[in-house]
Amino acid sequence: MSISGKNIILGISGGIAAYKMPILVRLLKKAGANVQVIMTPAAHDFVTPVTLSTLSGKPVITDFIQNKEGLWHNHVAWAQWADLMVFAPATANTLAKMATGQADNFLLAVYLSAKGPVMVAPAMDLDMYAHPATQKNIKKLQSYGILIIPATKGELASGLSGYGRLEEPENIFKNIIDFFNKKATLSNRKVLVTAGPTYEAIDPVRFIGNHSSGKMGIALAEEAAMRGASVVLVLGPTHLRPINPDIKVVSVQNADEMYSSVKQYFKSSDITIMAAAVADFTPKKKALHKIKKGASSLSIALKPTKDILASLGTQKKPHQILAGFAMETENETENALDKLQRKNLDLIVLNSLREANAGFKYDTNKVTIFTKDGRQIALPLKSKKAVAEDIWSVVETLINNSRKKIE
Ligand code: CTP
Repeated sequence: MSISGKNIILGISGGIAAYKMPILVRLLKKAGANVQVIMTPAAHDFVTPVTLSTLSGKPVITDFIQNKEGLWHNHVAWAQWADLMVFAPATANTLAKMATGQADNFLLAVYLSAKGPVMVAPAMDLDMYAHPATQKNIKKLQSYGILIIPATKGELASGLSGYGRLEEPENIFKNIIDFFNKKATLSNRKVLVTAGPTYEAIDPVRFIGNHSSGKMGIALAEEAAMRGASVVLVLGPTHLRPINPDIKVVSVQNADEMYSSVKQYFKSSDITIMAAAVADFTPKKKALHKIKKGASSLSIALKPTKDILASLGTQKKPHQILAGFAMETENETENALDKLQRKNLDLIVLNSLREANAGFKYDTNKVTIFTKDGRQIALPLKSKKAVAEDIWSVVETLINNSRKKIE
């Protein structure tokens, strides 16, 4: 797939690197994309709209109202038009406004209305880039599913040298090409992913839960959708949501609800990945009213929950692929291999809680993938998005191998 005919909005905000954007517009146009440039008012100080309009073949938009004609630009219509929005350069100010949902210019209003993919290439002075507030905003945007093209290291307009330079237009162009060229290797496949924790109610106020954020499972769902699969995500209680509007999200609270929803979609799924941190125990009885602190001690009787993954393993048809996670703190490999076999899985992903920056809540993870055909793939510490890409690549090799066997 090329980018020919793709609709791309290039959002330019007010930083010196804006002067490089005519090159990006030219590269995109030469590759056959339709480019609409939208500038923030501050960007006009750094690059002229006449250059950008000429190169893109479309008048640049900055304001909601086009002064002379009194014409109103419809931010929702532009958001729907775009196959991709690219913010380059994205200043610290624009990043902050995107992270907090402000819409005090046309570009931000389009961004807030956009349901499709967004790419952001930050550029600013090194101290602004390194500031915890900016880094937090970038992380927040990542958690919304936005693709970040990190700033690079080098000479800055201030005369200082360090991280903060806009990635070169040629490399931003390459990121855009790569984004559209991801092959639809999972088209016509139905995928079921679970993510997040489960909350097992003790009374109307308290619950037994765990630290799972759902990030890993959401990344798996996003990646499957990106590869063309039709995806159902059964999601435990977390404030995170996938960004891709094509992913069907089924929200559940506890292990029992997760089991019911999973059962409903499992039969028709080609590939199921249980990434949820399902509670192993739930209170035997949920108190109808808040438990008062009167007594000097309190015991809560627990009963085991259904092992959803093990139950799917018994129902699995030969054409179905089933994958699980193993969260271990000791005898990692042994325990993971035992779960792979015991739960009749095709693949298991081992997360070790002993690894720094990996596991619950982090944006990065360090895992080892074990397959039932005896492969063991130890991956270095990577973003959860990159781990999700690797997991799907291994799943695809399993699909191809089983197809060969049938042939
Ligand atoms: N899992 C499940 N249902 C449960 C518990 C776990 O489907 N009630 C799934 C998880 O989604 C994960 C896999 O089983 O894919 C392994 O979870 P983990 O907590 O590592 O292991 P358990 O099977 O719960 O075993 P243990 O607690 O003894 O390690």
